[in-house]
Amino acid sequence: MVDPLKIPQHIAIIMDGNGRWAKQRGLPRIAGHREGAESLRAVLRACIELGVKYLTVYAFSTENWRRPKAEVDFLLDLFALTIDRETDELIDNQIKVNYLGDLSKFPKELQAKMAGAMERTKKGTRITFNIMVNYGGRAELVESVNQIIGARDKGQGAKVTEEEIQEHLYTRGMPDPDLLIRTASELRVSNFLLWQIAYSEIYVTDLCWPDFRKEALCEAVAAYQRRLRKFGQTEEQVSAA
Ligand code: FPP
Repeated sequence: MVDPLKIPQHIAIIMDGNGRWAKQRGLPRIAGHREGAESLRAVLRACIELGVKYLTVYAFSTENWRRPKAEVDFLLDLFALTIDRETDELIDNQIKVNYLGDLSKFPKELQAKMAGAMERTKKGTRITFNIMVNYGGRAELVESVNQIIGARDKGQGAKVTEEEIQEHLYTRGMPDPDLLIRTASELRVSNFLLWQIAYSEIYVTDLCWPDFRKEALCEAVAAYQRRLRKFGQTEEQVSAA
C-alpha cells in the first residue's frame, strides 16, 4: 500500500478529537489526552519505520490556555511526565526532540525539562520530532519579522525577504511539511504552521486522535502518494520533470 520510494520527508499533524473520543466513551476529557499520548508514541514509531525524517505535532496552541484550568494543568503534567519517562528511550532510538513555541509562558520547571530533553537528544539523526507547544502560526511569523527588523541598523531600508522570514521561524533549517494530517474531521488549519504548509498536501480523517495509529498513518501516506504535487506548474510540466 505504501510506496517505500515516495515517503514524505516531513509529516505534520493536528492531533484533534481527544475530548470527543473520551466523551463518546463516557470518560473525562483527560482520558482522551492520556490515550492520545499512546497514539503519539505509536505514530512516532511508525514514522521511523517508514523513513520519515521530520514529524511535527500540534500539542498545545496559544489558544489552549482558555480551556478549564484542570485540563490545562493535566496537559502540562502530561508533558512533564512524558519527558521524565521517555527521554532515555528517545536517546536510545536516536530521536531528536524539539519543543517549539513560546516556552516562556510555561512553569519554570517544565521549561527546564523541555530544555533538558532537547539538549540530551540533540545528536539524534533518525528523525527530528517537533512538539509544538504554546504555538501559534501568526505569532511565529510576527516574531520572525520582529527578529529580522531588530537585527537591522536603524534606517537600513532593504525589504524583508522570504528567505529571511524562513530563517527566523522555529522550523528554520528544516524542509516544509509534505503532508499535513488532521484528525477528527475538522476542515481547518487552526493557526498551525501557516508559512510552512503553503504547498503541503492536506489529509483529514474522521478518526479521533486516540484511534489514529500505525494503520491510519499508512493510509494517510498512501493517500498522499496518490496525489500529484504540482507546486503551481501544469500536470504536463510535472510529468515531464
Ligand atoms: C486535541 O484534542 C488534543 C490536544 C489539544 C492536546 C494534545 C495532547 C496530546 C495528544 C497528548 C500527548 C502529547 C504529548 C506531547 C505527550 P481536543 O482536546 O481538542 O479534542 P476535542 O476537539 O474533541 O475536544
